[in-house]
Amino acid sequence: MSALSPIPLSMPDISDLEEVMVLETLRSGRLSIGPMVEKFESLVARRVGCRFGIAVNSGTSGLHLLMASLGIGPGDEVITTPYSFIASSNCILMVGARPVFVDIDPVSFNMDPAQLEAAITPRTKAIIAVSTFGNPAHMDVYERIADHHGIPLIEDSCEALGATLNGRASGSFGTAGVFGFYPNKQITTGEGGMIVTDDSGIAELCRSMRNQGRPIPRPGAAHVHTHSAGGQHMGSWLAHERLGFNFRLSELNAALGVGQMERLDHILAARDTIANQYLSRLAGNTFATPIQVPQNARMSWFVFALRLADRFTQMDRDAIIADLRENGIGAADYFPCIHLQPFYRNLLNITAGQFPQAEALAQRSMAIPFHNRMTSSEIERVVSTLERAVAKRMPQRKAA
Ligand SMILES: Cc1ncc(COP(=O)(O)O)c(C=O)c1O
Repeated sequence: MSALSPIPLSMPDISDLEEVMVLETLRSGRLSIGPMVEKFESLVARRVGCRFGIAVNSGTSGLHLLMASLGIGPGDEVITTPYSFIASSNCILMVGARPVFVDIDPVSFNMDPAQLEAAITPRTKAIIAVSTFGNPAHMDVYERIADHHGIPLIEDSCEALGATLNGRASGSFGTAGVFGFYPNKQITTGEGGMIVTDDSGIAELCRSMRNQGRPIPRPGAAHVHTHSAGGQHMGSWLAHERLGFNFRLSELNAALGVGQMERLDHILAARDTIANQYLSRLAGNTFATPIQVPQNARMSWFVFALRLADRFTQMDRDAIIADLRENGIGAADYFPCIHLQPFYRNLLNITAGQFPQAEALAQRSMAIPFHNRMTSSEIERVVSTLERAVAKRMPQRKAA
């Protein structure tokens, strides 16, 4: 292990503002279902340009709720990408439906729009499109295809808060979008997520189902829950209109999110700066390419991912990751293909080779440290260690 201080793969950017907001909320005694959740919802919805924001306790819960609110279930198919974090596909299995994968476009790493239409069948009940690593490429095309076929498009924007395509915010394409706020994301609530939509019916259903299927309080109706004021049960607190979950976000998490949202532009600008430093330091190398962002898009950098050149094998990539880690540098194999996870293979009877672009990328892609507070010397240390690690895997050739 290196004697130098470790450089983590990711790190949240929390300021005094968030500390004060969380502490004030803690001291208020109102720890769930309160003003912070409402404020957080309206901040995210306004930012994205959607009518409704529904805060939930994770991005996964948001995706799950959307599947349930669309009535998707056994016998249905949902089209999605095989190259993503597994939750973008697990939400389909959670409601008993079948994920149908469409291979990726190797330039943007997102689903290949040219192959999407051919995957649509009479059983297709939704498309879940992921803005991989914060790249919103093709969302407009997916939206056109979904509209043409009368199928809802769900944007899995868990990695893409702040991204735009033709000036439109990630999350605002299609029927609904979901953001994730795990600590490696652009902003964090510790754990948390947010559904955004313009559809009042979906918003209502999601609000009810995140809260144990309780009815949604009508504007002007007396508060129906008094648990925080002494445990009395009144009105409809114990009335449940439908099957629901407890996917609520606490007031403490929401307070953290409100503080983070107020600093979002600063956070995104800091991430752009770090990404641009990496891009210029890596320019001209022959061993890896970063994700390609379309001209009409603003990338919201989630992680800094690289695709190693085709001459490297998966074993090379894994050895390079191990080498970086031995030198105190965070690195990870973002992302293994979802369809090749053993339980997916068994469940869906999928074999390797079905999605060649995703598989080729997954064997060679890796994330290197990326967070707002990285210094220039840390970036230099990451890249020069990477270059040495790469050179060890190709002793006859130069790394860069
Ligand atoms: C593309 C994508 N979808 C869904 C999720 C799930 O979000 P969470 O971890 O908040 O459940 C993530 C989180 O990493 C993600 O990257």
